[in-house]
Formats: sequence, C-alpha cells, structure tokens
Amino acid sequence: MKTYLDDAPATRALGQQIAERSYPGLVLALQGELGAGKTTLAQGVGLGLGVKGRVRSPTFIIMALYEGRLPMAHADLYRLGDESELTELGLEEHLSHGVTLIEWSERFPQLLPKDHLELLLEDDGDGRRATLTAMGPKSLALVTELQALR
Ligand SMILES: Nc1ncnc2c1ncn2[C@@H]1O[C@H](COP(=O)(O)OP(=O)(O)O)[C@@H](O)[C@H]1O
Ligand SMILES: [Mg+2]
Repeated sequence: MKTYLDDAPATRALGQQIAERSYPGLVLALQGELGAGKTTLAQGVGLGLGVKGRVRSPTFIIMALYEGRLPMAHADLYRLGDESELTELGLEEHLSHGVTLIEWSERFPQLLPKDHLELLLEDDGDGRRATLTAMGPKSLALVTELQALR
C-alpha cells in the first residue's frame, strides 16, 4: 500500500490508525533516512495506544518501553553496537506480546519476526510518501484494513 502524508499530523494520524488495529506481536519496521518521520509515526502509534507521556526519539537509549492498551516498545538501532545489548534491554521478550516499533531495523534484520509490517517513509515535495509492505498474514490483514480507510 502506498499513501501520501501531507504533513507531520498526517504521519501521526497514520500511526494512530495502525495502533487502533494493532494486536499483540505486531512489529513495525520503520525505514527511511534521518528526518523521514519515523519517530513522528511512532508518536502517533503511542497516541493510538493511549500511552501516557510523550514518545521521544530513543536514539541514545536504544529502546524505550511504554504502557498502553498494549505494551509498546520503541527501539532505534542506529547506534546499536551488537545484538546482545538488545537482549539485555528485553526486546526479544517484548516482540511476541506487545507492539514493537523499530527504527533502523535494516541494520539487524535477523531480529525481525517473519510476519512484520515494513513502513518506508520518503521525502516527496513538502510531505512524505509512505509505502507499507506486509511480510505475513497478520500484517497483511492490518494493511487491508488501512487500505479500506483511504
Ligand atoms: N508527512 C510529513 N510531512 C512533512 N514533515 C513531516 C512529515 N512527517 C514528519 N515530518 C517532520 O519531519 C521531521 C523529522 O521527523 P522524525 O520523526 O524525527 O524523523 P526520523 O525519526 O525519521 O529521523 C520532524 O520535524 C517532523 O515534524
Ligand atoms: Mg527517529
């Protein structure tokens, strides 16, 4: 699915729509250059899950956990040295029961479960082009529901 996001609120709104249809074990691989809007989308997911407090970029802490309708983990692997650091942070346990968002997952693709949702953001004019690719049946059902909204 491809969609155009005019501005940052539109990016947040897409995150919110994803959150409203999320399920335990949903993993979002957020891709795109620095400044593409990955953290903005994560803020929308946080809003949609009803997490308290503001979702900030986890670049320096690698991973942040939030409590919402489902537990949410937000990771940024840009500065991650090696995978074992993530095991210590508890990412693997979180993957199966919460909603997990990972920025720069392409650095450690082996961490992703097979059925995940890839969401690529790219600069396009004043806004962003979003490309959503389902990698398995559960994420495909979610994308199909999102498609129906557009
Ligand atoms: N659809 C959009 N159109 C224009 N600007 C956007 C859009 N989505 C997000 N932004 C802006 O892009 C900037 C970088 O966003 P951020 O989410 O921090 O990027 P990333 O996490 O990918 O580095 C922010 O100023 C944000 O408001
Ligand atoms: Mg970011």
